Amino acid sequence: MKPNRNRGGVFISVEGPDGAGKTTQLQMLQDKLEEHGLEAVMTREPGGTVIGEQIRKILLDPKFTEMTVICEVLLYSAARAQLVAEVIRPALLSGQVVLCDRFVDSSTVYQGYAGAEDPGRIKEINLWAVGGLLPDRTILLNIDAEAGLDRLRKKRQGPAPAGDRMEQKALAFHRRVQEGFLQLASQEADRFCIIDAAQDLKAVHRSIWEDVRPLLQERALIT
Ligand code: TYD
Repeated sequence: MKPNRNRGGVFISVEGPDGAGKTTQLQMLQDKLEEHGLEAVMTREPGGTVIGEQIRKILLDPKFTEMTVICEVLLYSAARAQLVAEVIRPALLSGQVVLCDRFVDSSTVYQGYAGAEDPGRIKEINLWAVGGLLPDRTILLNIDAEAGLDRLRKKRQGPAPAGDRMEQKALAFHRRVQEGFLQLASQEADRFCIIDAAQDLKAVHRSIWEDVRPLLQERALIT
């Protein structure tokens, strides 16, 4: 299936390795949009629907050490199909701004580049699952694997964090995640905006806003 951009509202995804600070930055972006009178729809992956949250529990449960990467691909894409059908597409059709905490690129990178399944096939399966929908803009919060995992540890304030099943993977896996995102971003340079997530929170937020603002102005959503 060929990728297509939406014709209604604006679809923005935020991607990056674990610990890049996506969730905090998405919250800051949502607040900023609100200051401009825009109420954005925020979703998270995997999850964001009743069915998706159930799938999330299976995917992130540390006890399922036997899960194959192909099983992961299909579960993530199943949750995503539901999220697009129930939440994202209707919101875009009604002209809203949708902020998505991870999307198809996370599968291409985590299960493909880092998980050693074919990234091209993963993208194809996912494009089928989401009816070809890709974000108008993807913000890549780039951070070294070590620095990202360190942040997660500090956040949890424990010396040896348990983490969820995906976070428990080896450092080498997380390095491939960072490299995979950068590779994807270079292949689709017009969709991606790479931001250095090692900067302080406010600086990262400013960089995101500088990138997103013209897009929203172009669509006449803000002045
Ligand atoms: P994450 O956004 O880090 O959730 P939280 O901030 O709630 O911990 O996502 C959870 C994990 O799922 C993360 O390690 C990345 C992984 N993941 C994939 O491997 N493939 C995917 O398609 C998605 C959406 C996430």
